[in-house]
Order: sequence, then structure tokens, then C-alpha cells
Amino acid sequence: MPMKIKIINVVGARPNFMKIPSIMEEMEKHPDRLEPVLVHTGQHYDKSMSKVFFEDLQIPEPDINLEIGSGSHAEQTAGIMLKFEKILLTEKPDLVLVLGDVNSTLACSVTASKLSVPVAHVEAGLRSFDRTMPEEINRIVTDVLSDYLFTTCEDANENLRREGISEKKIFFVGNVMIDTLLKHRAKARRSNVLERLSLNGRPYILITLHRPSNVDSREIFFEITEALKYLAEKIPVIFPVHPRTKKQILGFGLEDTYRTFSEGMKMPDKGVWLTEPFGYLDFLNLIDNAKVVLTDSGGIQEETTVLRVPCITIRDNTERPITITEGTNVLVGTDIKRIIDEGIKALNISGKSGRIPKLWDGKAGERIVKILLENL
Ligand code: UD1
Repeated sequence: MPMKIKIINVVGARPNFMKIPSIMEEMEKHPDRLEPVLVHTGQHYDKSMSKVFFEDLQIPEPDINLEIGSGSHAEQTAGIMLKFEKILLTEKPDLVLVLGDVNSTLACSVTASKLSVPVAHVEAGLRSFDRTMPEEINRIVTDVLSDYLFTTCEDANENLRREGISEKKIFFVGNVMIDTLLKHRAKARRSNVLERLSLNGRPYILITLHRPSNVDSREIFFEITEALKYLAEKIPVIFPVHPRTKKQILGFGLEDTYRTFSEGMKMPDKGVWLTEPFGYLDFLNLIDNAKVVLTDSGGIQEETTVLRVPCITIRDNTERPITITEGTNVLVGTDIKRIIDEGIKALNISGKSGRIPKLWDGKAGERIVKILLENL
């Protein structure tokens, strides 16, 4: 009997969790050929940032948890590398598969390549061309080290070619995060999150904000806050808050603007209302029913495109330009006037409706595993 191919799949932070299910499910269809191992680095560790996604998406318990936790970029990255190296030496995998652009992605791809273990990068080739974003560094380094670069769109293929990556390593497979979205959309519609927020049948804006460039700078965060206050005079703004952002709101003394909504309350007609982060199904339901979504996240730009909900991205650039050229996304930077203008436009006239990008069809995981089976 031929030896089984052992693949270590790495997840670490929230945006990884919704990208792994379709890949794992496909791998498990080939028990005679593949032996997948799931490693969680523990970069995100709160229940609401991690465990709830495993439950909602029925991801199996990780086989190994490195429990790295928070720290500076160097601490987090180096800590993962030290622990992951030991795992590689004992597990001796044939491939390490990493996702997206978080610190765990970088740490594990560097460690694997130094031990000559081939690396597959899912969601390769995205570029914001902004090296002040830690994610951009993570993308560039991971891509240059990877042996299999699985991409979501043609512009990612172009970026990789321009950087001199061999065509033979680039595979345009579609979007694994959208595999998960399409699979869970019906279930998400049955979530009772709108009832819990007393938002049934009522219009609202949904916002997420956590980029260091937006929330760590007092000046920029205050500017965004002024824009939100204006929009929140017209319609309630629901703000599931990332732990980093929550700390900053307290540090900047902005609790009067960002009030806390607790379940059981009736949602007022105006104001910005903080909630805990939601699980996958609740959050998908909240996007699906929002009048407009304001965000600085990467993944939400793609989810709104597929759900055809207008998205206003509070950043100067995006590594996902296809969500603008084809989807529902507009980029407004952090300028108060532009945020308000686009917000009002989306509320009054309805925003862009767009179309769904090529191969964002629910089959990316299937394509990835097929390619790995043919090549490993
Ligand atoms: C990380 C990713 C970012 C992604 C985001 C989504 C990197 C470089 N960034 O940023 O691309 O968009 O996740 O959430 O990998 N914290 C907790 N509990 C947790 C996790 C974090 O309290 O479970 C707090 C800690 O104070 C921590 C801070 O949030 O220091 C930031 O966490 P970290 O993992 O460093 O980066 P994110 O900002 O979450």
C-alpha cells in the first residue's frame, strides 16, 4: 500500500477559521491517501474569537494547540516558530497548508520551509501594496516561500507573476471562505440574532473596526467616530467589537459615544451600540440583513460582495480590489466626509449590487485537494 500523505493544516486567528472547513472536509473524503492534522496556534484564544467558530462550523477539535496567545509581532511569530518546529520534527508532515495573512501564517510557513517541508498557501497573491500593514508582510513572505499558491482571483495571479513566482506553482481555485458562506447561508438565516438585538424588520448599519492603523491612532479613531455619530443619528449602528478596539475605546474615553448593548434591552432608534463579537452564523445573518456594512476587515469585503450588501471600507487601500471592480465595495479611507457621504448614499439610494467573482462558487476546497492529490 502506498504511504499516506500527511498534511498539517494550520489555523490561528479568527479569519482563518472560516477558511479551513471545506478543505478539511475534502481531505477527509480520501482517508486512504491523506492524513490531515489540524494545528491551532492559539493566536486567538477567547471563546468569542475562536471556539464559537469551531462550534458553528463543526470544525473538529484541533489535534494540537500551540496556545501562543497575544504578544508583540515578534513575540507571537517567534513563539509560534519555536513550538511549530518541534511539531514538524515529531510529526514529519509531507506538506504544511497555511491560510490567509495572519502572523500564524507567516510563522508556520517560515518554519516549514527551513525544514524543507513544502508549503501550500491558500489565498495567495493578494496585495495592498502597503507595507505598513503587518498582513502585507505576512503575505509577501509566505508567498515567496510557498510551493503551491492557491489564488482567489486573476489579479492575485498577476501579482504573483510580477513578483517572479513560477506559473507552475500558481493555481486559481476560487475562494474557500465563500465555500463556507454558501454552505452555511441557509442555516445562518435561521439564527435568532435579530430577535436578540430587537432588530427584526428594522434597518441598521453594521460596523467592524480593528486595524491598528484605524484604532490605535487617536486622531484617526476620533475622525471615524465623528462620522459614525452622524450616521447613528439616523439609524442604529451595531458594532460587534474586537478586543483590541474595546481597549482603545476605554483608553480614549469614548464610552459616551460607544455604548454597550446588552441582550434583553430594546435597541434604540439611534446611537452606536457595542456588542460582544458574534459567532459565524449570527454574524453572517447580521451582514445579510444590514442596510450597509462599514468595515476595515479584509474578509468582510468579500462576504458582502457575495451577499450583495453594500460595503464601505474604511481604509486607504485594499488587497481585494475585485470586491470594488466586481462587487459591492467602495473604499473611502478615513475621511469623515467620504464616510458620511457614502453611508448616506447607501442608506438612501441603496449601494452597489455588483456581481459574484469567477470561481467563488463553493468548490474551491474541492479544487485545492484535487490539485494536491495529483501533485504530491
Ligand atoms: C489578527 C490578524 C488580522 C485579522 C484579525 C482578525 C495578524 C497580524 N493580524 O489581528 O489580520 O484581521 O486578527 O481578528 O495576525 N485579543 C484578545 N483575545 C483574543 C485575541 C486577541 O483579547 O482571542 C486581544 C489581545 O489584546 C491582542 C489583541 O487583541 O493583543 C490583538 O490580537 P492579535 O492576534 O495580535 O491581532 P489582531 O488585531 O486580532
